[in-house]
Parts: sequence; C-alpha cells; structure tokens
Amino acid sequence: MQLLHIGTYFTSEQAGATALAVGSELEDDAVRALYAYPTDLDRPWIRSNFVASIDGSVTANGASAGLGTPADGRLFAILRELCDAVLVGAGTARAENYGGASPSAEEMERRVAGGLAPIPTIVVVTASGSIDADSRLLTDAEVKPVIVTSASADGSKNAALRAAGATVIEVSGESVATSDILATLTDLGFQRILCEGGPGLLGQLVFDGAVDDLCLTISPKLVAGDAGRIAHSDDASDTPMQRAHVLGDEDGTLLTRWIRPS
Ligand SMILES: NC(=O)c1ccc[n+]([C@@H]2O[C@H](COP(=O)([O-])OP(=O)(O)OC[C@H]3O[C@@H](n4cnc5c(N)ncnc54)[C@H](OP(=O)(O)O)[C@@H]3O)[C@@H](O)[C@H]2O)c1
Repeated sequence: MQLLHIGTYFTSEQAGATALAVGSELEDDAVRALYAYPTDLDRPWIRSNFVASIDGSVTANGASAGLGTPADGRLFAILRELCDAVLVGAGTARAENYGGASPSAEEMERRVAGGLAPIPTIVVVTASGSIDADSRLLTDAEVKPVIVTSASADGSKNAALRAAGATVIEVSGESVATSDILATLTDLGFQRILCEGGPGLLGQLVFDGAVDDLCLTISPKLVAGDAGRIAHSDDASDTPMQRAHVLGDEDGTLLTRWIRPS
C-alpha cells in the first residue's frame, strides 16, 4: 500500500504522518498515523468507513464483502483498532451477520497502550428492535453490544436483548434522532467513533451534518446492478469535505480519507 497524496490540512498535523513522503510504502504504523483521531476531542468524532465499486455500488452479489480487497481488509482492521465504538445500523448488522469485535492479542495491547478499552463496543441503532437475542451480536461477543432503540420498538424484544447481556437504551420518537445517537455516545464516554454504515444510517448522519471524517475505499470493480450508494436520505444536503489523503494498492484499490472542515 502506497501513499499517493497527503493533504496539507489535518493529516499532516497527526503524529508520525508528517514524516511520510508521497510514494512511500506504508507499514501498519504509518497507516495508523494517517488515520489517527484528533487528540483534543471533547465530543464524539464521527468517522465512517465504506467500500464502494468504481460505479458507486455498496454491494457486489448482495454483500459489501464482494467488494473487499486486501488493502480494504487491512484498513478495516486498523480502523477498528483505533476506535472506542463501532456504530452500525441494524440493517447492516443483520445483512452482514455482525458479531462482537474480536481484536488479536497484539491489537488489544496496542489499544490499551493508546488509552482505549481492549475491545471496542458495537453500538447498534434500530427503530424496531428487531435483533435476535440469539444472533452473533449477542452470542459471539466478548463485549456485549449497546442497542439504541426507539419508542416504537417491541418491549418484549428489548427485554430479551437485555437478558442476553445487551445494554438497551430507549429514546423517544419513531426512530433514533442523530442528537440522541450523539448524546448516547457521549453518555457512554465514547469519542472515537467508527460508523460502519449502512447507507440508511450514514444518510441520516450526513443530512444532519454529523459526519466528521469519511474513509471511502474504491474497489477496482464495475458491478452495475441495482444496489444503492453509500448514503441515502429523503432529502439531499450539501457538506463540503477536504481531502486528507489518498492511498493506493497495487491491485488498483484506492483508499481515501475526507475531513469536514471545522
Ligand atoms: N459497502 C459498504 O461499506 C457497506 C457498509 C455497510 C452496509 N452495506 C450494505 O448496505 C446494506 C444495508 O443498507 P441499509 O440502508 O439497510 O443499512 P442500515 O442503515 O445499516 O440499516 C437500516 C436499518 O437500521 C436501523 N436504523 C438505521 N438508522 C436508524 C435510525 N436513525 N433510527 C432507528 N433505526 C435506524 C433501522 O433498523 P430496524 O429495521 O431494525 O428499525 C433501519 O431499518 C446491506 O446490503 C449491507 O451489506 C455496505
């Protein structure tokens, strides 16, 4: 994986990233430096990570895994290593059969050395509460998930999720407002957030101006089909972003990072 471009804005201020020259081959430490969260956070920083095909699809053969490349997989693991919490919509958790995060022993060591809990918490947003208490989210998770749900969720489902070990937080309204997501993350003490989608949740966060940082992998494929793009919402919005850096891998994968100017 090679550094193709580094912005003078933001990334150059991050520890370690200043020493990197365009064209450098990147070891994992250098990649971590390029994706470091700001060090002076006083609120949740919403980073989102997505992979899309060249023609803008978020899935190939029905799953994002169909777009995966070695560089994207490497970045996926590094981004999880750097975060307090993985924020995800229930649609993605169901479609991708999410379990808990399971970092390696080395990753946990680095996390703890960096002031993080050994394992990031998965935070799932759902209006309906339709998450099976015997799904991998609950059964294959050393750290049990936080489920943020709405007043319209079925109370018996919430009770079953609590009995299976989840922390269930109910907010008012038919769905979970962005302000409630941010307040919940703040209350839980999570600031370094990694939103892994999906397009419904990201669309809401984009529309509400809540995305600080977007990591977008372009997978070197054309797939056509009828899959959607990385964010959708009822109404359009316009958030200018600044390019932080572009990495490239020899198979054609492009890894881009975009920051919302403060
Ligand atoms: N390419 C990629 O990087 C990538 C990343 C993620 C997902 N994907 C793909 O995207 C597809 C899923 O798309 P999607 O739009 O359905 O994903 P999504 O945003 O994860 O799921 C939508 C569902 O999540 C819950 N949800 C999201 N935001 C909510 C809110 N603010 N309040 C309450 N509930 C909320 C609702 O669940 P309930 O129905 O339970 O109320 C809603 O029906 C899958 O095919 C997945 O593979 C691709």
